Amino acid sequence: MELLRHGGVVALPTETVYGLSANAEDELAVRRVFAIKGRPATHPLIVHIAGVEHLGAWAREVPEAARKLAEAFWPGPLTLVLPRTARATDAITGGQDTVALRVPNHPVALEVLRKLGGGLAAPSANRFGKVSPTTAEHVREDLGSDVDFILDGGPCTVGVESTIVDLSSEAPAILRPGGLAAEDVERVLGRKVPVRTSATVRVSGSLESHYAPRAGVVLTEPGQAVARVQELREQGLRVGVLGPASLALPPDVPRFDVPTVPAEAARVLYARLREADAQGHDVLVACLPAESGLGIAVRDRLSRAAAPRG
Ligand code: TXA
Ligand code: MG
Repeated sequence: MELLRHGGVVALPTETVYGLSANAEDELAVRRVFAIKGRPATHPLIVHIAGVEHLGAWAREVPEAARKLAEAFWPGPLTLVLPRTARATDAITGGQDTVALRVPNHPVALEVLRKLGGGLAAPSANRFGKVSPTTAEHVREDLGSDVDFILDGGPCTVGVESTIVDLSSEAPAILRPGGLAAEDVERVLGRKVPVRTSATVRVSGSLESHYAPRAGVVLTEPGQAVARVQELREQGLRVGVLGPASLALPPDVPRFDVPTVPAEAARVLYARLREADAQGHDVLVACLPAESGLGIAVRDRLSRAAAPRG
């Protein structure tokens, strides 16, 4: 706590992924977050707050839709983009007139936020473009001594980043599918909410290649996995598989357990990508979960991991 009050950068557990947090009102500390991540300064950060009652300090307009979503899903894996107040400085928003806000659903994060009383700017606690951390150990591997302290809150229960909903312009839109299903957002708002990645708003997760392991990634529906593995092995490649136990794979092909049930896949996805990648395979064949609920977010992250590298 003292660390955060005095410009420290602390890795913090949330229900989605671990965050690399700094006092949102300390510009120097926020700049250190960008430096540690290796993230371009134009990519804005999410401000984490202790509860819906802090919304007005950071957002100058809070439309009815934002109230409804906040009341329904906070604390939880939902980020709202709203017109900012002066408290959200250019250092956080990258000069945009909006700010991204969220109340994380993790006892450790909530306790820190309540004690601090303010906001914590926190991107995921990984190097820019790499797989997000879902355990304190992942953070240690990635960032090690670059951070002042790592708070260990155990493995993340959701496992993929928050769903970002833009409520700063007329029609609500999803800027990043994530740990809250789009169906849930639509149910509460009583309308369709399209996924939109705008050219003017920079969402780092929207760069084509992101969440990328070292190995190549090949996507497949579970039914085609065995055939894909065979083809790739015939090309002389070392192949690992991310998929469910039900796959009838040759015994010498390592499999990393990613169930097809979307929420279960989301929870373990990043940890399994890291484990698989650590074994130095040439290619990882990844089975896609069903395209509903958190399956949308898992498919999105896997597609980015499979995208051509720049
Ligand atoms: O679950 C999460 O959201 C995690 C945990 C730590 O809370 N955080 C996270 O942060 O994923 P990060 O920085 O990796 O992703 C935040 C996303 C970025 O893609 C960023 O561009 C977008 O939020 N963002 C931040 N402010 C924005 C704004 N004003 N308008 C649009 N997008 C914004
Ligand atoms: Mg990130």
